Amino acid sequence: MTSIRPLVAGNWKMNGIDSSLAELGALREQLAEAPVAEADVMVCPPATLLSRAVEILAGTDIALGGQDCHPLPSGAHTGDISAEMLADAGATAVIVGHSERRIDHGENDALVKAKALAAYRADLTAIICIGETEAERRDGETLDVLKRQIQGSVPEEARAANTVMAYEPVWAIGSGLTPTLDDVAKVHGFIREVLGRLLGQAESEATRILYGGSVKPTNAAELLFVPDVNGALVGGASLKTTDFYGILAVYRDGAGG
Ligand code: 13P
Repeated sequence: MTSIRPLVAGNWKMNGIDSSLAELGALREQLAEAPVAEADVMVCPPATLLSRAVEILAGTDIALGGQDCHPLPSGAHTGDISAEMLADAGATAVIVGHSERRIDHGENDALVKAKALAAYRADLTAIICIGETEAERRDGETLDVLKRQIQGSVPEEARAANTVMAYEPVWAIGSGLTPTLDDVAKVHGFIREVLGRLLGQAESEATRILYGGSVKPTNAAELLFVPDVNGALVGGASLKTTDFYGILAVYRDGAGG
C-alpha cells in the first residue's frame, strides 16, 4: 500500500468569501518556497469561489474540488449545482456523501451513489465520504455501518483513478477528538477489504483512503502514517494556510517529524 501517493484535501465547508482567497495565494507561495513533493494537494472551497481560485492557483499542482453536486447535469433544481458546472468552473473532483450532507439534508446511500456517478460523467474524481455517528460507535456498529455505506454509496464503476474514499467518524469532525491509531488502522483496513470485494483487489489496493476528523498539524504526523491511511480530508485546519501546510509538510518530514 506504500506505493499509493497521498492526497491532502481541504474542505472549506460553508466558509470563505473573496478575502479568504488570500489563504490560497499564501498556500501557493508556501509550496513554491518549500514544496512537498511527496503528496498531492487539493482545496475544496465553496462553489462561489471556484473560478477565482482557479486564477490564483493557475500554473500550480494544487487541485480544486467542489463540496457536493446534484446527480443530474442540468435542469429545474433551484439552488443545486451539477458536476458538469463544477468541472466547468475548474474543479477536478467533488466531495459526495459528507456526513454534513447526509445529516443536514437527509442524503442516503443511493443518492450519494448517484452523485458519485454524476462526478464520473463529468470526469471528476468522486471523494466518497463514510463514517459512523457517536451512537453507532457506542453501540459497536461501526464496521456494519461502514460496510453498508460502502455497499450503498460506491458505484460498481468506481476505480482507483476516479474515486477517493474518505473515512470521517462523525463524532471526530470539528470536535478535537480522534480515534486511536489502532482503531484508524483497523477501520481503514476494513474499508479496503470491503472495497476489494466490491471492485476487486487490484482496484482496492490502489484506492486512496483518506482519514478526516480533527486532523491538525499536531496530530497529522501520527494519523497520516497509520497503515492504509493515504492522506487526509481536513476541515477547520484547512482554512488557515499555516495549519494546512503544517499537515501537508508531515509527508516531507516523515512520521513523528
Ligand atoms: P474537521 O477537520 O474540522 O474536524 O472537519 C473534518 C471534515 O469534515 C472534513 O470534511
